[in-house]
Amino acid sequence: MRHVTLLDIYEHPVTQKFVKRSGLAHAIAVAYHAFDLAKEHGVHPDLAVKAAFLHDIGHYTWYRNGQWDYNLYKENDIHAIKGAERAHKLLIRLGEERRNAKEIALAILLHTDSYLPDGTIHRTNLQEVVAKADERDEEPSGNHHYRSITDVEARNKIIRLDQMVYESLHDVAFQKTGEA
Ligand SMILES: [Fe+2]
Ligand SMILES: [Fe+2]
Repeated sequence: MRHVTLLDIYEHPVTQKFVKRSGLAHAIAVAYHAFDLAKEHGVHPDLAVKAAFLHDIGHYTWYRNGQWDYNLYKENDIHAIKGAERAHKLLIRLGEERRNAKEIALAILLHTDSYLPDGTIHRTNLQEVVAKADERDEEPSGNHHYRSITDVEARNKIIRLDQMVYESLHDVAFQKTGEA
């Protein structure tokens, strides 16, 4: 299995279509928050960042008469379920390890409880990191989905985050060697 980078994920047409639909700027901001939170909570940064970047890939556009309809969305939305499946398929296609693809898909499935009965979620640390990262970037009235970012800026941020993940994994490996 090759190591799948965020840039590999970002450049895939499925990501370009569906992550852009729910807001590329939001996805990238949540991925950066997840990186910080992963460090704080001892969670694997590679999984946290990938799950965070893809967390809203399952969004559908709920429009009525050309206008976004929040009630329609609230009643019918299953973006976390759809996103978990879509992200899993994408990751497997790109060559991600199956165990990682499942962990990431589960974190996407549980990043919100808006489609579930109250109090039914008990999250792992990874799942909690992704949910908290999403909350950190939320704006009133769902405005976080509409912030814009240029393709060049987005690509540069993705490359930078890949580097940050690589460096932090390298540090972890180095520290473990030092302890032995
Ligand atoms: Fe979401
Ligand atoms: Fe979100």
